[in-house]
Amino acid sequence: AASFVVMAPMSAFAEKKIVLGFSQIGAESEWRTANTNSIKETAAKEGIDLKFSDAQQKQENQIKALRSFIAQKVDVIAFAPVVESGWDTVLKEIKAAKIPVILTDRSVDSKDTSLYVTFMGSDFTEEGRKAGRWLVEKAKTMKGDINVVELQGTVGSGPAIDRKKGFEEIIKAEPRIKIIRSQTGDFTRAKGKEVMEAFLKAEGKKINVLYAHNDDMAIGAIQAIEEAGLKPSKDITIISVDAVKGAFEAMMAGKLDVTVECSPLLGPQLMSAVKDLMAGKTLPRRIVTVEGIFPMEVAAKEFPNRKY
Ligand code: AHR
Repeated sequence: AASFVVMAPMSAFAEKKIVLGFSQIGAESEWRTANTNSIKETAAKEGIDLKFSDAQQKQENQIKALRSFIAQKVDVIAFAPVVESGWDTVLKEIKAAKIPVILTDRSVDSKDTSLYVTFMGSDFTEEGRKAGRWLVEKAKTMKGDINVVELQGTVGSGPAIDRKKGFEEIIKAEPRIKIIRSQTGDFTRAKGKEVMEAFLKAEGKKINVLYAHNDDMAIGAIQAIEEAGLKPSKDITIISVDAVKGAFEAMMAGKLDVTVECSPLLGPQLMSAVKDLMAGKTLPRRIVTVEGIFPMEVAAKEFPNRKY
């Protein structure tokens, strides 16, 4: 009798791609755009099938995206939570569907830490401390009261809460430093400008320092300061966070004093974590990004090395 060897189609031998569902916060800042690019580029390079969803800074959109990832039965879910609270219900649904979760950039305040595998990203409190230490040092060259206005990030977000906390913890050491106004600018240039205009209207020349929780808000505020006829850095010392290229340009133009680094280039470590998870490896519970601080004096030298 004739015997037949059944050949499986080639595709059956091809390795099945890992499917990663990623819910991004939005496109609110230069930082976020660099973060999105890093994730998309690395997924493509590593052959990971990325289902990317942009939540336009709304938690409800993120929750919808997470639920759609469950419905699509993705292998791994990763997301950058816009705010810290309100994730337990959806995280429990994901756990019930047996899909591992990786938190990137920002964390959640869920008591049940079994709801996610790891949290990778910056230490925001330390970033606030770095900003505070720089100001305490700078205060040695300043006379009298040092009135600070603060532009906070998105209300309820990890970086806004922690950057405020870290900064306040350090400036306590110098009683001349006082935060006279503090309001959210939602991490955007437009809001940063708008709120700085209001600060200037209310406090005018009393303002000595601006502490902005990100570079975009600082750049928006610089515009407001110039439009008010004041000189950024000369009349108002400006401190911000992220170290994006736009901040280096502002420093090289003499308009921003210092930026604390917060790296958005999380794509490579995310994809390697996803691969490790799928290979059955155990991930560390916390993966912290190593970062520096760049004062105006080093901006021109460092600028060519900046990747975002
Ligand atoms: O979570 C990181 C923060 O989010 C960055 O500092 C800010 O620019 C971004 O929008």
